[in-house]
Amino acid sequence: MKKLTYKELRTLWFDFWREREHAIIASSSVVPENDASVLFTNSGMHPLVPFLMGEPHPSGKRVANIQMCIRTGDIDEVGNATHLTCFEMMGNWSMGDYFKYEKVRWSYEFLTDKKYLGIDPERIFTTCFEGDEVAPRDTESAKHWEACGIPKERIFFLPKSENWWQLPSGTGPCGPCSEMFMELKSGACGPECNPSCSCGRFVEIGNDVYMEFIIHAKDEKPVKAKQQNVDTGMGLERILCLSQGKKSVYETEIFAPAIEIIKNSAKLKELDGQNLFMARRIAEHVRAASVIIGDDVIPSNSGQGYVLRRLIRTTLRAAKSFDVWDNDAFIQLINFYVDFLGEFYSQLMQKREHIIKTFMDEVSKFEKTLSTGLREFEKVVKFLQGKELSGKTGFRLYETYGFPIELTTELCAEKGITINMDEYHQAREKHSKASQTAAVGAFKGGLADTSGMTTKLHTATHLLHSALREVFTTDLHQKGSNITPERLRFDFNLDHKMTPDEIKAVEDLVNQWISQKLDVGIKEVSLDDAKKMGAIGIFNNKYGDIVKIFTIGDISCEFCGGPHVSNTSELGSFKIQKEEAVSAGIRRIKAILG
Ligand code: SER
Repeated sequence: MKKLTYKELRTLWFDFWREREHAIIASSSVVPENDASVLFTNSGMHPLVPFLMGEPHPSGKRVANIQMCIRTGDIDEVGNATHLTCFEMMGNWSMGDYFKYEKVRWSYEFLTDKKYLGIDPERIFTTCFEGDEVAPRDTESAKHWEACGIPKERIFFLPKSENWWQLPSGTGPCGPCSEMFMELKSGACGPECNPSCSCGRFVEIGNDVYMEFIIHAKDEKPVKAKQQNVDTGMGLERILCLSQGKKSVYETEIFAPAIEIIKNSAKLKELDGQNLFMARRIAEHVRAASVIIGDDVIPSNSGQGYVLRRLIRTTLRAAKSFDVWDNDAFIQLINFYVDFLGEFYSQLMQKREHIIKTFMDEVSKFEKTLSTGLREFEKVVKFLQGKELSGKTGFRLYETYGFPIELTTELCAEKGITINMDEYHQAREKHSKASQTAAVGAFKGGLADTSGMTTKLHTATHLLHSALREVFTTDLHQKGSNITPERLRFDFNLDHKMTPDEIKAVEDLVNQWISQKLDVGIKEVSLDDAKKMGAIGIFNNKYGDIVKIFTIGDISCEFCGGPHVSNTSELGSFKIQKEEAVSAGIRRIKAILG
């Protein structure tokens, strides 16, 4: 396999797809806009959902990018050699354009051609969907893999659990996939050994999803979509690690300098065992936290803010596992990531100081909580009757004071006290079931719900944005937006709490525009023209060269991916339910349509 640097791999990916007439588009925010079904952008396809469902993409039918993603499902594993919560996904898409014939050949070429990854073709294995009542056995992909030169023995047909891709929300575009694997060591572990085996023989290197189905509502069966799409994903960190022949992603230049900073701060000569695990955890979480803060999330007790808080607190706990630690190392780490990634994710460069401040504020907050927790711990053990701390108390210390059970165990051991771990696990499980149910409740709705209320609320959001700018100032900008089928939420900069008169003025203006039955228009223009037109919205580096502009009469002209209603008369009446502070200088409005 060809040896590549991080930058070379990025360039190679873009060049390959550019040569095949794909437009290179920017990475979207890791915080999804107008989608309440998930907390974070979890794959390259996620920001492209409307286009995979048939809306024309401003950059055309073929696009490619490298998308920053967040997946927190395996957060507790982070620290081992492979798991990451934050990763870059190299992706390319056909949106109603080419399908299996071209995609299989291009995947094969990118993987094996010496100009690209140059993987030994003998080591490539692939899998195809074995078929079910929705989609037939994917003999077509298999035929194309064979035509490329992969023998039948290295093509496996696997069930839905392995070869079907859909979003975690269970809705939206989906379909059978064909995965590519590299064989790391020869020899099957047994007669059943196949690429989905966990024996360590194979590593997944890419996934081509043939999205020709759509799930309209959760638990409904997939139905044929309007168009056939291809969605490709290749984890950048993993490919880089393989290309450099490293044992772990932490040994590549994406993380190695960070690990060095941590080693120095902990004043350790070597990192191994638990120390290495904790160092990797710190390196990974600081990177994830920097990226999340860079996309305007601040630590809080719910949603994205909660995940961020958890990442930072876990980082601090990991750091405290070392005998020596200097919190300034966090600043050095953030600076390293901002320098390293900032070239490709410019918002990180722009927000360097903000990222450092937000991270460090949370660190000091947690340090205070930790000392309160210690006092509470002393109280609890003082009145402890037996020689055992109840698991429930252990869990309460964790839940209320963020006290990791390992810490409680250690502190207890110093006093000759044991902990009832069975009870602790029971308490934890009970709690996690309860919070999962709550989370499902909080994030119901879904991606595919683009037809009804969310579309209306989305158009209302544009009206609200314009009304706020009219009532206050054109220096007022969107700082965040989130829509569920029940309400819209809009964050913006303003230096004071809105008075009841101001709230009424904004509401009246929006309702006036609704009653004027204004048409909603859509234009595709170059970024420069859009700026000349005075279009508002979040620029960042989210859009390609050609952008979509939505206009509402002549009162709103905004960058946006859609979807929207076609006339404001469809909206009903607009009501602001709540106006509150998010942080210093940032206000939040929640509003509904009745
Ligand atoms: N969506 C697929 C994945 O995440 C391919 O991009 O694996």
